[in-house]
Amino acid sequence: MCGIVGYVGNQEAVPILLEGLHRLEYRGYDSSGLAVCTRGGLKVHKAEGKIQQLETRLPKRLKATTGIAHTRWATHGEPSDRNAHPHTDCTGRIAVVHNGIIENGAELRARLLAAGHELRSDTDTEVLAHLIASAGGADLEESVRRALGAIEGTYGLVVVDERFPDRIVAARNGSPVVLGIGEREMLVASDVAALVRHAERVVYLDDREVVSIRASGFSTTTLEAEPIEKSATPIPWKVELYDRGAHEHFMRKEIEEQPEAVERSLRGRLDARFGIAHLGGLNLSARDLLEVRRIKLLGCGSAYYAGLVGAHMLERLTRIPTDAEAASEFRYRSPVIEKDTLYVAISQSGETADTLAAVREVRRKGGRVLGIVNVVGSTIARECDGGIYMHAGPEVAVASTKAFTCTLVCVALLALHLGRIRDLSPSDGKRILDALERLPEQIRTILTATDQIRAVAERLKDRNDAFFIGRAAGYGVALEGAQKLKEISYIHAEAYPASELKHGPLALVSPETPTVAIVPNDDLFEKSLSSLEEIRARRGPVIAIAHNGDARLHALADDVIVVPRSEPVLDPILMTVPTQLLAYECAIALGRDVDQPRNLAKSVTVE
Ligand code: AGP
Repeated sequence: MCGIVGYVGNQEAVPILLEGLHRLEYRGYDSSGLAVCTRGGLKVHKAEGKIQQLETRLPKRLKATTGIAHTRWATHGEPSDRNAHPHTDCTGRIAVVHNGIIENGAELRARLLAAGHELRSDTDTEVLAHLIASAGGADLEESVRRALGAIEGTYGLVVVDERFPDRIVAARNGSPVVLGIGEREMLVASDVAALVRHAERVVYLDDREVVSIRASGFSTTTLEAEPIEKSATPIPWKVELYDRGAHEHFMRKEIEEQPEAVERSLRGRLDARFGIAHLGGLNLSARDLLEVRRIKLLGCGSAYYAGLVGAHMLERLTRIPTDAEAASEFRYRSPVIEKDTLYVAISQSGETADTLAAVREVRRKGGRVLGIVNVVGSTIARECDGGIYMHAGPEVAVASTKAFTCTLVCVALLALHLGRIRDLSPSDGKRILDALERLPEQIRTILTATDQIRAVAERLKDRNDAFFIGRAAGYGVALEGAQKLKEISYIHAEAYPASELKHGPLALVSPETPTVAIVPNDDLFEKSLSSLEEIRARRGPVIAIAHNGDARLHALADDVIVVPRSEPVLDPILMTVPTQLLAYECAIALGRDVDQPRNLAKSVTVE
């Protein structure tokens, strides 16, 4: 999705803006651009394609200490130089970068054209530059506020005006904007990642807020010009965590970081004496939690699949009926919100528009929502009634890996917490707790199987289609495994509950179509073997992700990737890791752009 960065201070703005853009590359984009206030007025440069294209177009001497920049992910108008941001007004004195969608853009465009404005792009954003330029007002802040009065839609917006080269004005409605406070310099961005090298503290704008930023500080108002006090918070993650280091790809780095990420998710939250989990941010008393009669997990994509797996954990450990639903569909079916249902929104980024809309739908109807979120201070984290931070560290690769495993760890902690308030015995609680503590080491063991998985991937990569199957929580793992393979290798993969195979998809099983089977040695093991028999009878290749030691399984599968045993409710966490490695190795073998797969964005902030 689009990315914004702005700078005002006493250093050269251009390198800082470019560095910020590079840090936002992971979000996915098709063009980029920047505008800086130079002595000779406003200068704008844009280019379709990678940021390197923009860099090669920049003049050698482009001196300025105030500027804004953008990576665009096309929504209105094709990817092109012309449609890249920043956009300017007719005179070229005001430049705007924008994330979001102006819903009445077409109507405003027609009005501006009728009034004699010359619009040069196909974007909805360009109307903003023209509206601001013709809004009047004593200063840029006031012009922006006035112009926004005419806007319907969502925006994270940053504006510069050559008449006020000492400031940047930003505004937010539905698309994130965060200020970074540095030493006599200020930054603004759509994502903390763009600020980390220059700022130690950040301020998150809320919807319908406008901020005027200078090197020495900032002032915030509502759209109605009411002043607002905002407080700064420290950036939670160190700058090095945003770097790829010696790894070839962020995805690889993030897969390998999982042991430490899981340790962070668990840190300070387990109490072995009582077999319980402490979760400080829930904002719900034991009495509130005892009243919960149902739990619903909401999320999109991998976060939804984590919800499907998590629902099994919660139901098993708490005996509270639990299910998961795709947050992207939730609000469209006018859901019944019940007071004794606990809603849990899952989001790595905390900015996914569909998940945020689901949170708002629940809250509008009087329901309570907890968030399981990775990015501290993100919109979903702030809008939920309480929650659990994943502490996975920044996840940069489009394909989610460590956030998936850490989500499951957080759900397990929630299940332990709720379970021990209810019927889970201290000894059962202790068993789960011990198993949680073993996870990091067990993940390390799985990561040593890379060579075997690479060999499997070498054969899988030449297939056009693959099935992923699993039972109960294993079906969620299968969905996630198929999603990973599709996202980054572009091999078509479909996940089915293993028992569903014979109800239709078996027609497609053949020597050309391998099946990745999630086969923990649990109470459904014998049933899983029957599914594998069905596949073998059609000469379908089988890659089993399993526990060690069963000769029948080895006889049925072409490859068995062995993972250590955990408690059955936690097995899905470990079984996910080989699916991540398998997708990664296939993508590498096929020469794909692993960290930035085609058509995808890291955080989907539009509907
Ligand atoms: C994961 O690999 C995907 N890129 C995607 O499905 C992602 O999980 C989804 O868009 C939700 O993102 P979130 O966790 O930031 O809300």
